[in-house]
Amino acid sequence: MRPAFFTLAVILGVTQLGVSQTVSGSAEGFAAGVTGGGSAEAQYPSDIDELKEWLTDDTARVIVLNQEFDFTDSEGTTSGTVCASWGTGDKCQKIIQDDCGDSTALSASWYTAATKPIDVASNKTILGVEDKGIIKGKGLRFRDGASNIIVQNIQVTDLNPEYVWGGDAISFDGSDLIWIDHVTTARTGRQHYVFGFDTSTRVTLSNNFINGETPYSTGCDGYTYWTFEMVGKADQITLQSNYIYKTTGRSPALSGGTLLHAVNNVWEDNNGHALEGGEATAKGLFEGNVWSGVNTIIGDYKGVLFTSPDSSTNEECNSALGRSCVVNLVTDSGELTAYKDTSFFTDFSGLTIAPATSASEAQANVPSKAGAGKL
Ligand SMILES: *[C@@H]1O[C@H](CO)[C@@H](O)[C@H](O)[C@H]1NC(C)=O
Repeated sequence: MRPAFFTLAVILGVTQLGVSQTVSGSAEGFAAGVTGGGSAEAQYPSDIDELKEWLTDDTARVIVLNQEFDFTDSEGTTSGTVCASWGTGDKCQKIIQDDCGDSTALSASWYTAATKPIDVASNKTILGVEDKGIIKGKGLRFRDGASNIIVQNIQVTDLNPEYVWGGDAISFDGSDLIWIDHVTTARTGRQHYVFGFDTSTRVTLSNNFINGETPYSTGCDGYTYWTFEMVGKADQITLQSNYIYKTTGRSPALSGGTLLHAVNNVWEDNNGHALEGGEATAKGLFEGNVWSGVNTIIGDYKGVLFTSPDSSTNEECNSALGRSCVVNLVTDSGELTAYKDTSFFTDFSGLTIAPATSASEAQANVPSKAGAGKL
């Protein structure tokens, strides 16, 4: 009985999937060495309750998503005041806020589930099958010491996009060793990615599609402002080969004491600004990136920067990265001012550094290969 049953289960498993469900590749950059659920047997949650339970319990798990998990209406709605701070037009986002000052106050209701992300526990791998793994109407959060987590090849979408504070897709606040890879985020109320004040160390965001196209925005024009917010006290973030499309601000907002290594990303079609940030303690090294159709590459920014301006200056990266930096590529965009600050290069000590391709390779590959369903 037993061997026959076992064989049948294996056959069913294989025919059901068609592909093996294991992590594709491994993390490069600061999250190198992350193992997530490791060799735990792949498990397929059947509904949103099982998904939530497996993501939040104390067991190391490999959780495979082969369907859409729709949380939208699962916790009902909340009613309150929203302010038309950017206008009352159909395409304008409104902000959930009691006091609207001089702006028009409106009554509205929004989905509660999207405002309460799932707190993912340590030692988890979350994988999507082909393009089928979708979490709709709820975000993922890594906080309070959560560590060793892989999220690959899923979409996180539709978090009350009409309302600021309606929901963030991916949140960090005091976590370690997290790898987010080939994830598509779209139609968020607030941030696609947000890092809170508590320090998050060893994070790699790679090959993600940040789809900023949205029916509701602060500019009332379909471009999201709420891209990446990085305000952690001493965060370490590798941003590698992401496709950052149709945004208008916070791309990223680099602030706090964050150390950011941005390599081989492609920003495309930005009608506002990409980089901003209000604190002198933030540090960014940008190399091998592409800005295409970006109105302003560096907006109001107070931190320090190295923007890999030319091959002789880029040799200074040897002390930080163990190699020269790679020049960036700017097309049909505002100017990329040359910044040559190397004062923060010692912060890279002890961290694993992502490799860099040329910017032209990133330009050719990243837009078509980033996001879910592209593995
Ligand atoms: C995660 O896995 C590691 C290694 O097996 C273990 O030491 C640690 O306690 C686990 N963490 C949690 C929160 O279960």
